[in-house]
Amino acid sequence: MRIVTIVGARPQFIKAATVSRVLRKQHTEILIHTGQHYDYNMSEVFFKQLELPQPDYNLGIVSKTHGSQTGRMLESIEKVLIKEKPHRVLVYGDTNSTLAGALAAAKLHIPVAHVEAGLRSFNRSMPEEINRILTDHTADLLFAPTKVATENLCREGIPQERIHLVGDVMYDATLFYNEKAHRESRILNLLGLDPKSYILVTIHRAENTDDSSRLRAIVEGLSKVAKDIPIIFPIHPRTRKALESYGYLAEAEVCLRLIEPVGYLDMVMLEKNARLIATDSGGVQKEAFFNKVTCVTLRSETEWVELVKTNWNYLVYPLSGDNVAREVYVALSAPPGLEINLYGDGRSVGKIVRKIAI
Ligand code: UD1
Ligand code: UDP
Repeated sequence: MRIVTIVGARPQFIKAATVSRVLRKQHTEILIHTGQHYDYNMSEVFFKQLELPQPDYNLGIVSKTHGSQTGRMLESIEKVLIKEKPHRVLVYGDTNSTLAGALAAAKLHIPVAHVEAGLRSFNRSMPEEINRILTDHTADLLFAPTKVATENLCREGIPQERIHLVGDVMYDATLFYNEKAHRESRILNLLGLDPKSYILVTIHRAENTDDSSRLRAIVEGLSKVAKDIPIIFPIHPRTRKALESYGYLAEAEVCLRLIEPVGYLDMVMLEKNARLIATDSGGVQKEAFFNKVTCVTLRSETEWVELVKTNWNYLVYPLSGDNVAREVYVALSAPPGLEINLYGDGRSVGKIVRKIAI
């Protein structure tokens, strides 16, 4: 089969690299990069490190407003699909690139497969929630990572035969790249970090970066904690720009160790060796669990509800600096969560590729 895969943002390069390696043994894959993420350390580094083949098309559609970005992607992807005439389109996650890809395909009556289907925050003010719902309702093959995700899809009336519980491809990625990360990453030495001696932080969600009081609470709270334990913060370009525009960057630079975004192999090593992770990332929440590290999620809700129920994840609304600091200390002193298998057996990729072939 000819499959067009559409990627655009950092987590999609990681997921696609994991699936692509197996997919390309049986199918012809044509890779479209929308250009949504474009800095070297937000894009190219993942292609290099994870051996994801270079895109056949790079549409170069960098960020603007949501409507403009999604609309321009839709138009450009449609042109490629008309030219390439694939049997199927494969999309990942919940970004604007995901929605544009799914919509372009559906309008041309090309079947859509969605990896990471069925996740819901039930917060429709999140751009990702709209992207997921619309993508799930245009797809005919929905690969759900968890039982909760399959239940969400059923509740929305999506026919059972379209839904496949396959586990999480990010767990496959964690297992697959573990050895390579140990072999190739030098990040702990470079930063002079001892295992379990620091907190790893990532923040990039619109709800945190676009709200100055929430971002202020996060920086203030983490700065208090940093007096006791170093905070390593590979900072997303969006968050750096937001801190700068609110005038918080200088303070953050004094109290926290802000570093540029890192490649996946370095990220794996930073996660594994962290004493605690504090994040608003979907992927990083799960990777904390895969590496048996307690996580504080700085959001009002999460799609990965199993992690909260099993005490791996502490959901903290960033109300004030005091509140953030207090909750981080609570999580630091909490025992590890339940030993439980939540995201499959590390073989989701095989299940996905087999279903795509049918
Ligand atoms: C996007 C996704 C989000 C996902 C995240 C993964 C949407 C709506 N959001 O959020 O779901 O969790 O990717 O990281 O699709 N920028 C750069 N260089 C880059 C990329 C971004 O400077 O390489 C800056 C630009 O100022 C840009 C801003 O970051 O405007 C936001 O980028 P964008 O891709 O729109 O959203 P993310 O916050 O990255
Ligand atoms: N990641 C990375 N380098 C970083 C930050 C994150 O390689 O500096 C990886 C992380 O390990 C995870 C993925 O990027 O696999 C998560 O992406 P992100 O947090 O940008 O998006 P989300 O998962 O929230 O959509």
